[in-house]
Amino acid sequence: MTEAPAVLRPHAEQQFAAELTALAAADDRPRPTNWRLSPWAVVTYLLGGTAGDTVITPKYVGSRRLIEVAVATVATDRALLLLGVPGTAKSWVSEHLAAAISGDSTLLIQGTAGTAEEAIRYGWNYARLLAQGPSEAALVPSPVMTAMRTGALARIEELTRLPSDVQDALITVLSEKTLPIPELGIEVQARPGFNVIATANDRDRGVNELSSALRRRFNTVVLPLPAGVDEEVGIVATRVADLGRTLDLPSATDAVAEIRRVVTVFRELRSGLTEDGRTSLKVPSGSLSTAEAISVVTGGLALAAHFGDGVLRAADVAGGIQGAVVKDPVADRIAWTEYLETVVRQRTEWHDFYRACREVAG
Ligand SMILES: Nc1ncnc2c1ncn2[C@@H]1O[C@H](COP(=O)(O)OP(=O)(O)OP(=O)(O)O)[C@@H](O)[C@H]1O
Ligand SMILES: [Mg+2]
Repeated sequence: MTEAPAVLRPHAEQQFAAELTALAAADDRPRPTNWRLSPWAVVTYLLGGTAGDTVITPKYVGSRRLIEVAVATVATDRALLLLGVPGTAKSWVSEHLAAAISGDSTLLIQGTAGTAEEAIRYGWNYARLLAQGPSEAALVPSPVMTAMRTGALARIEELTRLPSDVQDALITVLSEKTLPIPELGIEVQARPGFNVIATANDRDRGVNELSSALRRRFNTVVLPLPAGVDEEVGIVATRVADLGRTLDLPSATDAVAEIRRVVTVFRELRSGLTEDGRTSLKVPSGSLSTAEAISVVTGGLALAAHFGDGVLRAADVAGGIQGAVVKDPVADRIAWTEYLETVVRQRTEWHDFYRACREVAG
């Protein structure tokens, strides 16, 4: 059992420091320059295994090959783009890759429509700039510049939301591995180990599509939705247990049946088909991702802990599920009501769940 951490959300390299140290100690395979671990050990860190006597917990649940391709890409001169629908662990995998490879997952740029070129290149401390003129001391390096200098990984979240001029700045960095600073007449040349891991959503298409020039600098790895219900229940249960520990919530071990029900609802509505393949359903507009299932269950556990008897019940998750499903007040409500009446109501073991959902639906 790990101790409750002093911050709400430690970085991966802090939270799993013991695992990373054990892997580094046991790892006798060749490491690319400036990598903390060999590619093989990085994959073990992500997918779980052992290092000496230390158990390495799985961070990502899914195809080994995908993670191998992702790790191998980072070891080449091409950048890595993790693509997928919302909640498929793109950010999560990116953070853990950076933690395992560079020991630092914090060189991060959040892509938004307002992200400026300085986020990729550098900015200035204007007080210093005015007082002393342009100098290295007045320069404020971007996470990308720091990563280049130290031979580390920089992370870019939501790459497709970056305005196109900012994307262009990235092309130079990725193809030349150099960042010129014309004001000082110098340039920063990337050290080995430098690379970029970006994530992008292929559902809510970014405001700006990726230019083909930029796309060519990336190898794309598509992270899929969990293949089966068991796999997805496993992911939700593990993550809920992790989150519950940081939030001091009751253990989720006896919540597996309820988790399975939440996951089943999400999967059925997401695919527009019941598990037995017999009834087709209206698909609501929300993403109904694994990540959302995780937050529905976590929210339910908080309700159970603070206002119930500590056991997760249908009534604790009903509100959260409805909130996740009904994003559009008209169309989604129809889809949800139809699902409740035609599917949930017919399942004899689901009566408590039906009642709870009807109660919230009003
Ligand atoms: N296959 C999986 N293995 C382990 N955890 C998973 C998996 N799929 C989803 N998760 C969990 O889902 C949560 C959300 O993942 P994350 O935020 O990385 O999604 P994302 O793909 O970046 O979504 P978005 O497009 O909304 O940014 C994380 O807590 C992660 O642990
Ligand atoms: Mg993300």
